[in-house]
Amino acid sequence: MQYVPFGKLGFDVSRLGFGMMRLPTMTDDEGKVCIDRPEAMRMLRHAIDRGVNYVDTAYGYHFQESEILTGLALKDGYREKVKLTTKLPQWLVKEHADMDRLLDEQLRKLDVPYVDFYLVHSLTGDAFHRMQSLDYKGFLKRALKDGRIRHTGFSFHDEKDVFIEIVDDFDWELAQIQFNYLDDENQATLEGLRYAGRRGIPVVCMEPLRGGAIANPPQEIRDMMMENPRGWSPVEWAFRYAGDFPEVVTILSGMNSFPQVEDNLDIFSRVKPGTLTSQDHAFIREVKEAYLARIAVGCTQCNYCQPCPEGVLIPRIFAAWNGAYMFDNPVLFENAYRQILKEEGDAARCVACGQCEAVCPQQLPIIELLQKAQQQA
Ligand SMILES: NC(=O)c1ccc[n+]([C@@H]2O[C@H](COP(=O)([O-])OP(=O)(O)OC[C@H]3O[C@@H](n4cnc5c(N)ncnc54)[C@H](OP(=O)(O)O)[C@@H]3O)[C@@H](O)[C@H]2O)c1
Repeated sequence: MQYVPFGKLGFDVSRLGFGMMRLPTMTDDEGKVCIDRPEAMRMLRHAIDRGVNYVDTAYGYHFQESEILTGLALKDGYREKVKLTTKLPQWLVKEHADMDRLLDEQLRKLDVPYVDFYLVHSLTGDAFHRMQSLDYKGFLKRALKDGRIRHTGFSFHDEKDVFIEIVDDFDWELAQIQFNYLDDENQATLEGLRYAGRRGIPVVCMEPLRGGAIANPPQEIRDMMMENPRGWSPVEWAFRYAGDFPEVVTILSGMNSFPQVEDNLDIFSRVKPGTLTSQDHAFIREVKEAYLARIAVGCTQCNYCQPCPEGVLIPRIFAAWNGAYMFDNPVLFENAYRQILKEEGDAARCVACGQCEAVCPQQLPIIELLQKAQQQA
């Protein structure tokens, strides 16, 4: 396992962190899906035995079971071997006192007196402004002072300017962002990552494999990788990319099987910052372009077409469609479309009024594309 200093906090962190969001599951006696606890505990403890010392869970993961499982797995001396992170589910915070109540509930579920890092979970601009108005800073300072948390941070899903605004608002000790070679110009972006680094805030990387999508590339991209003299697997390319930036201290992977843990432990014996060559970076750019060339619809998600008078969620439909093409995985479209149907924003609602086509900066034939999307669904 490779380690780097966790900023100026005075300890070293393993480059591979364990994300407790995609654990193996099973069906219980009542037919309910739940975590396969023995297997998940075996995986986490094995990773810790092999040097992983950072564990990331959250209130909502696995229908609120992840924190309980994490607490169980960290018994028998494992708690002392790791830095433990959980997150404030900010969407459940309606008034200031809710923050204390939720943290106390989480400590009970984890069965620990404190957590090392407490992150405000999944901040967007709107959520952040709401949390400001509820005095999130007062809460974090109090929790630091009374010892329920050791360090503060936030996780993030919005655009770069919002990221910078949040970074500048508080003495954060960690920022967690979605970062991989397909997302270096998306959400916080590489620029945001660099900004956090300049401000001395260590960055924790989540979704380094885009939730698993770039672990299984379409054949043409797999062929490109096979032909590269490095001989690295798609997973190793992705981890090495995220791990090459000195601002990134640890890279979370949500592993859902023992072989994935073994594979990632092996890869992270080699992932060091600043070790990719300019040829490696050029190759990753080629891979990224090959993914982007697979985009079926040139929708840039600008949302000019929204709201549609009939409620059709046009950008969401095109994003789901593009995702399925890019990763050669129709199931991605089916799953996303099911959700869009639930939200009553499906393509069948289009009445061909043409309002969207009149404002689309990309001049897309939206009506025709929606019909095609409807046929694919
Ligand atoms: N704070 C937030 O808002 C937020 C949001 C997202 C994630 N997170 C945290 O960040 C962690 C990491 O994100 P993530 O789980 O999306 O990470 P990820 O590494 O991008 O995706 C995990 C998925 O990658 C696949 N995978 C992992 N190792 C593999 C291997 N060796 N070979 C083949 N496939 C492999 C598995 O997919 P398959 O299931 O397809 O096998 C696994 O479920 C989460 O677990 C969670 O703790 C936080």
